[in-house]
Amino acid sequence: MSHVEEHEGTRRDFLYYATAGAGVVATGAAVWPLVNQMNPSADVQALSSIRVDISGVEPGTQLTVKWLGKPVFIRRRTPQEIEAGRAVALSDLVDQGAENANLNGAATAEDQNRTLDEAGEWLVMMGVCTHLGCVPIGNESGDFGGWFCPCHGSHYDTAGRIRKGPAPRNLPVPVAVFDGETTLVLG
Ligand code: FES
Repeated sequence: MSHVEEHEGTRRDFLYYATAGAGVVATGAAVWPLVNQMNPSADVQALSSIRVDISGVEPGTQLTVKWLGKPVFIRRRTPQEIEAGRAVALSDLVDQGAENANLNGAATAEDQNRTLDEAGEWLVMMGVCTHLGCVPIGNESGDFGGWFCPCHGSHYDTAGRIRKGPAPRNLPVPVAVFDGETTLVLG
């Protein structure tokens, strides 16, 4: 067998395998929705959980990640932000619910009920304004040193609680848990 024939043979084999492979993929795709329907919980679980490396997040900075198609703010607060958040009386809040998926629905919106750690450094929230869904601007923005939504002027404080403007609710805290010191698991 010459080199050329050898080469062609290899190529034919390759094409054959590639075609067979495509067949398998197509079959898989057709079957998938069925499997999907039969076992929705496993599917939802796989899609709804992500791991985020937070080792590079310094105090006073925020990491924004996309989760389930939406932005999530992961802020590491400064001592000043924590202090400001904790100094606010519950009665001064528009929305007195914690809006924290990690706590029971009756939890109230004290600063301690908004953060993931006891020291109050880590604030994790959906970055979606509770008015009409714009993405608020962070970096100590707005009249309360937290976030400001430029769409219609909603001001959130350093714990992501609505303080002024048309938004009715605090920025929601999603299900989240630390895995070690440098990884956050969302969902
Ligand atoms: S969408 Fe944020 S204030 Fe309207």
